[in-house]
Amino acid sequence: MSRSERYKAAKELLGRYGQGHLLDLYDRLGDDEQDGLLDAVDRLDFSRIPGWVQDYVTNSKPAALPEEFGPADYYPATSPDSEQMRAKYDQARKLGAELLAGGKVAAFVVAGGQGTRLGFDGPKGNFPISPVRNKTLFQIFGETILAAGRKYGADLPWYVMTSPLNYVATVEIFKSNDYYGLDESNVFIFQQGTLPNFAFDGKILMASAGTIAASPDGHGGSLKALYDSGATADMKSRGIEYISYFQVDNPLVSVVDELFIGLSAMDEAEMSSRALIKAHSKEKVGNFCLVDGRVTVIEYSDLPDEQAEKRSPDGSLVFELGSIAIHVISRAFVEKLNADGFALPIHRAVKKIAHVDADGTAVKPEEPNGVKLETFVFDALPLADKSIILQTIRSEEFAPVKNATGDDSPEVTRRMMVDRSAAWLKAAGIEVPTKADGSPDCVIEIAPGFAICAGDVKAKADQIAPIKSGETVYLE
Ligand code: UTP
Repeated sequence: MSRSERYKAAKELLGRYGQGHLLDLYDRLGDDEQDGLLDAVDRLDFSRIPGWVQDYVTNSKPAALPEEFGPADYYPATSPDSEQMRAKYDQARKLGAELLAGGKVAAFVVAGGQGTRLGFDGPKGNFPISPVRNKTLFQIFGETILAAGRKYGADLPWYVMTSPLNYVATVEIFKSNDYYGLDESNVFIFQQGTLPNFAFDGKILMASAGTIAASPDGHGGSLKALYDSGATADMKSRGIEYISYFQVDNPLVSVVDELFIGLSAMDEAEMSSRALIKAHSKEKVGNFCLVDGRVTVIEYSDLPDEQAEKRSPDGSLVFELGSIAIHVISRAFVEKLNADGFALPIHRAVKKIAHVDADGTAVKPEEPNGVKLETFVFDALPLADKSIILQTIRSEEFAPVKNATGDDSPEVTRRMMVDRSAAWLKAAGIEVPTKADGSPDCVIEIAPGFAICAGDVKAKADQIAPIKSGETVYLE
């Protein structure tokens, strides 16, 4: 089809759906830009856009709360009471280690988000966070993956999901850091999809005269992108069976966890989750529930107060388990979802969306002016035939960097990184000087090359010199 024929067809299609304005500035564009815009129009999914506009843009469809639901069961974080369960944990740890040693596990970080709350220029993975050496999030994960590969004596490939908005910058960062010591062939960087951004009246916004405003389709987009990008095919060719999923903003995550991987495999779970006990009834994390026998996450904003506040006889919250975006996903599950066709529910986010107006003038709104749409990975949990939950301890594994200041800020994360290092040292029998309030009176950073879990520190306890008050310690 010639360009002018394509233009005519696009104009007709867009007109039919009330989106004709997308071509208003077409005449100002050069040939390549015109082609780019026509390609972008071709990619718009008009089988779904009118429904999205109706449900999530011009209206805000309330999330359908299941009629009946209860709390989900879970495996406790450590030392289960019964002999039988302790034996199961031992067996699971052994199996997890075997799967890692057999090269059956891949690390997978979702790093396609825009990180608007943190306000950092560039991909969030490049944010410097470690308390002594100021290592970036990517560097911490890269070094951890390298150390885990050495520990288990097998390649641990790393899959990195980016978005079209940060793919090029992310690849550059990995290249300029020499893939953090990993073999380049074991790092697979790919892009997730996007969804168009809408003004409140349902019109799609333009980012520039020739570009449709769009944002990444949420971490739920990973389940499609893993497949579409060829990542799952690559995993299959390497014999990978389990995908260890984590977020780019949480430097405390146990990137590959023997117990979690082993329990998932023993129970033949298609998608598993780690959870923590919520700090309070309304903590802003999703709630693990059971709906029709399936693990389902109900967002904190959707859980009615009555349920959120409900307590068990021992005083604990009935819905006590919060979701922290750490999963083990079987590769076969991702393949099955994609082969059968699946669509995760859409969530709306009201945002300030930079765009150009009808004249092509750039607009940077001071107030929210439209809606971004996204999908969430935990919405795939009910699609799994089997799903288990393993509790984790917040101070061990969850310190996400979300905001520039206050809660979930770099300051809090750094403090938690030091606290965890201190806890690992203490568990190894090493004295850590403390302040009057019990917090460490020193700054400690443990390089992943030295230890990736408390047990590794214990094994090297004799290599650690006594720590003095006020000292800065880097263990490598
Ligand atoms: P968040 O929900 O914290 O979003 O992402 P964000 O985009 O990073 O930050 P804000 O909301 O703009 O401040 C949680 C994790 O999911 C990834 C992020 O990169 C982060 O690791 N994510 C999020 C994606 O990979 N893709 C997305 O479309 C959204």
